[in-house]
Amino acid sequence: MRDPRKVPLYEKFAQDLEDQVRAGTFPVGARIPSIREASVQQEISFSTVLQAYRLLENRGVIEARPQSGYYVKLQPRKPVPEPDFQRHQGDPAKVSIDEVSLQLIHDNLKLNYAQFGAASPNPDLLPTVKLNRILAELARDGKLSHDMGVAVQGNEALRIQVAQRAFSYGCELAPAELVVTAGCTEAMNLCLQAVCQPGDLVAIESPTYFGILLALEAQHLRALEIPSHPRTGMSLEALAFALENHPIKAVLAVPNFSNPTGSLISDPDKEELVNLLARHGVPLIENDINGELYFGERRPRAAKSYDRDGLVLLCSSFSKDISAGFRIGWVSPGKFYREVQSRKWALNMRTSILPQMAISRFLENGGYDQHLRKIRRAYGEKVSAMSQAILAHFPEGTRITEPGGGFVLWLQLPGKLDSLLLYQEALKAFIAIAPGYLFSPTHKFDDYIRLNAACWSEKSEQDLIRLGMVVKRLLSGKR
Ligand SMILES: Cc1ncc(COP(=O)(O)O)c(C=O)c1O
Repeated sequence: MRDPRKVPLYEKFAQDLEDQVRAGTFPVGARIPSIREASVQQEISFSTVLQAYRLLENRGVIEARPQSGYYVKLQPRKPVPEPDFQRHQGDPAKVSIDEVSLQLIHDNLKLNYAQFGAASPNPDLLPTVKLNRILAELARDGKLSHDMGVAVQGNEALRIQVAQRAFSYGCELAPAELVVTAGCTEAMNLCLQAVCQPGDLVAIESPTYFGILLALEAQHLRALEIPSHPRTGMSLEALAFALENHPIKAVLAVPNFSNPTGSLISDPDKEELVNLLARHGVPLIENDINGELYFGERRPRAAKSYDRDGLVLLCSSFSKDISAGFRIGWVSPGKFYREVQSRKWALNMRTSILPQMAISRFLENGGYDQHLRKIRRAYGEKVSAMSQAILAHFPEGTRITEPGGGFVLWLQLPGKLDSLLLYQEALKAFIAIAPGYLFSPTHKFDDYIRLNAACWSEKSEQDLIRLGMVVKRLLSGKR
């Protein structure tokens, strides 16, 4: 159950209104109260009503009609039952990504399968045409070989753009203290190298993104899984207990729309997290790769925005919204700047310059904000439509997250179902999924799966129906 104190007012109002739609008070096509009317009736501010209406628009429940008002758009969504919060605190574990996991990660990249597996963005929602134009401009201007003299930190114009944007989510990052990396993956790896030694213990969310497990294993680090609520993220209570009882060297978390659950640590809890770690002198490696992909009104802050001691190392990339293939990420390593910079130098000197220049131009004048608005809305609708389709075609009792951002869904299947077996059977039906097996070093989530909603379209429903049939067959004990 979600703690009602943590539900923002606009979400509560949106939920109440959606309940009214579901109860038939406002049928399909009906006009709902205007922003002014709702604000007066409910005694809440204009902006709270507006935020609630935006959320309902993103969920596909209502639509705005120019000069006319807001109308009920779709049949009301069925309520989505949330996966259980697995509270059990584990023991420190050696991370060992076995052959099976490696094979799965590669299988997920097969292109002729229904793409519910890898958490890749929808290619049609990337600004490819604009990027191609910028690349052609750079070539015409003879800029392609201008990479000598670029500092180890990377392209300065890009770092300025990153710092300017970070200001909007509460962070004061100096461009001179940023390092451009090959994706968020390299950023996280450099941070782990900077703050840990082989054998050290790192606290992670449970479940966690398997790329984090790969990084821990590569650096011979041990993992301590901290129970994470599917909606509100890493339990601070469990983390506080773990900090008292284990020699934790760093915490690595995805506070904004984690992978696989899409959970969001509220801004007040982020502040508490940063203060808790500061009291213990433990660094936080914060992965904010999904921070821009929110469906609500406002971008959630980064935990880094509460950092007073330089203990937060903020990592992100443009892989989810601009291009995964360009491999451009960045890190603001706080007081570990020198360590990160020297490890970057030792590893590969600097990040490939051309994609940095292209992304920096796109951020400067390519309409990035407009692009983000478009993809947030599209992903909000896809996530909502896919979760409704899962409710319709999966067995009764399936539980699904309802993320407020990103584009993946985390499903708890009813009954004992081995996600690895489901994975194999789904492949035979040409459907790629990500089995829960991958998201915990101790394989705690074997009866869960993660599905990517990014490429959801009406055509995907047939694939989902086939997948639902495989799930039902396996649950009934048939192979
Ligand atoms: C939480 C998280 N971190 C990092 C990555 C990988 O980022 P990049 O491609 O920028 O290395 C992903 C990709 O799915 C992710 O979900």
